[in-house]
Amino acid sequence: MSLQEETPIAVAPATSAVETIVILDFGSQFTRLIARRVREAQVYCEILPHDAPPEKIAALEPRGFILSGGPASVYEAGTPQLPDYVLESGQPVLGICYGMQLLARKLGGEVQYAARREYGQAQTELDRASVLFQGLPNPLNVWMSHGDHIPTPPPGFATLARSANTPVAAMAGYYSWSGTGKHEGEKREVPVLGLQFHPEVNNTENGPDILQRFLFQVCECKGDWTAGHFINNAIEEIQAKIGPESRAICALSGGVDSAVAATLVSQAIGERLTCIFVNNGLLRQGEAESVVAIFGQKIGLNLIYVEARERFLQKLEGISDPEEKRKRIGNEFIRVFEEEARKLGPVQWLVQGTLYPDVIESATSETKSASRIKTHHNVGGLPADMKLKLVEPLRYLFKDEVRQVGLELGLSREVVWRQPFPGPGLAVRVIGAVSEERLEILRAADAIVREEIIGAGLDGEGAVWQYFAVLTPLQSVGVMGDGRTYSNVVAVRAVSSQDGMTADWARLPYEVLSRISNRVVNEVSGVNRVVYDITSKPPATIEWE
Ligand code: XMP
Repeated sequence: MSLQEETPIAVAPATSAVETIVILDFGSQFTRLIARRVREAQVYCEILPHDAPPEKIAALEPRGFILSGGPASVYEAGTPQLPDYVLESGQPVLGICYGMQLLARKLGGEVQYAARREYGQAQTELDRASVLFQGLPNPLNVWMSHGDHIPTPPPGFATLARSANTPVAAMAGYYSWSGTGKHEGEKREVPVLGLQFHPEVNNTENGPDILQRFLFQVCECKGDWTAGHFINNAIEEIQAKIGPESRAICALSGGVDSAVAATLVSQAIGERLTCIFVNNGLLRQGEAESVVAIFGQKIGLNLIYVEARERFLQKLEGISDPEEKRKRIGNEFIRVFEEEARKLGPVQWLVQGTLYPDVIESATSETKSASRIKTHHNVGGLPADMKLKLVEPLRYLFKDEVRQVGLELGLSREVVWRQPFPGPGLAVRVIGAVSEERLEILRAADAIVREEIIGAGLDGEGAVWQYFAVLTPLQSVGVMGDGRTYSNVVAVRAVSSQDGMTADWARLPYEVLSRISNRVVNEVSGVNRVVYDITSKPPATIEWE
């Protein structure tokens, strides 16, 4: 079965023509998961902060609302409240946890501090006559995480589920809606549903089914957003935005995000897109050649290759501090990019491969004190004073959706499933000062690690997330032939992860580790010892610097 069939994509740039579900974020750690589940059902959705301006919501013409959970208590002063536009919209609403409590309170029910908090797995008795629960196992194992509960639902509402500590674990009713403005004179009874548990987390049995019933049966969504739809729509939008004459540039790194963004934009505006690829000398073995071969020759992007190895090495001379390395590489990249871009003459647009998780992060931090994005994620940032307008065709996609769009655009699996690679490249894998000689040792060792892991079929979808060699600043004693050696120690790092935020060391088969070790010591001169890093993140990070 192709990937396309396994995990359907459901994305589109926001236009009123697209069926859109709005997820209002009240601060739950699971909000992003709600969006994932909705997108997996091929329904387009966006997360917006609970205090987003009403005009922004209205522009999306939502087909329904999902209110997330949140850490606050609805009855306390200053806590986030239900925006009026939700019930004024005339569209169905599903409240989850805090979201359900907001609905209950607004519609005349009761919300109380619960003497017995409920956290973790709970068995819930369902009313299976409800559209949400028809045919599901009863009782259902669900995931609860709440201090408050609803002892009495709003007048006219039915209790659809209960657990030992939660008298109303699900509720449903209607609100009477009378249209205003262009809907003047319209009246209808609009469904309101609430779940005290979290259908979006894996620990809730049949969680995706429950959400899909809200999407398809209550909101009557069609769920027809696929990678193909996304691409057609995105190409039209890019053409309309950039117009028939303007030009765009894109910094191509070889990574999946910039590759997909550039390919999409090039399909929209052809030769008017120029991609710039900077060889900073910190790339892995064969990488620069493969970027030119794939993107310049095979895909036919209008590609400028910039040879800048000397410049970057000079900037790094004698520098051991990792943050200082990152800063110098970032600054030099901006300089090189700027010089090249200026040679092109007038250019108006800059293509960037920003993804939805970055957008969510910056959107929520307007309303919450969300943690700052790590400095290292901004390496490769582009000149602020170039006054270029941004095209970010992937800004509403999650990473797996980007991969599907990439496949649909004809990019190879090698590009689409390329493992993450840090912007400062091998400079943060040569621990301590960087020199061409040490980079050469690392490149050779890293190539062996990659070959062996790929050869053993351990890379790609759902497999080892990232794997590489690190050149440590240690020298150790060894014996080779009849002689004593005193040379470098290489560490091998391989981790499994979902998103790079947390990770565990990969349980690589001993035979693979053994082959890597033998080959590195025998084939890479200057290395006489190989060690394997068995630390998870946290407490360690994936990269050593
Ligand atoms: P850490 O080392 O923080 O890395 O666990 C998490 C993920 O981010 C990548 N990484 C970087 N990516 N510029 C980047 O573009 C950087 O400076 C950088 N440092 C780490 C790392 O490879 C892993 O995937």
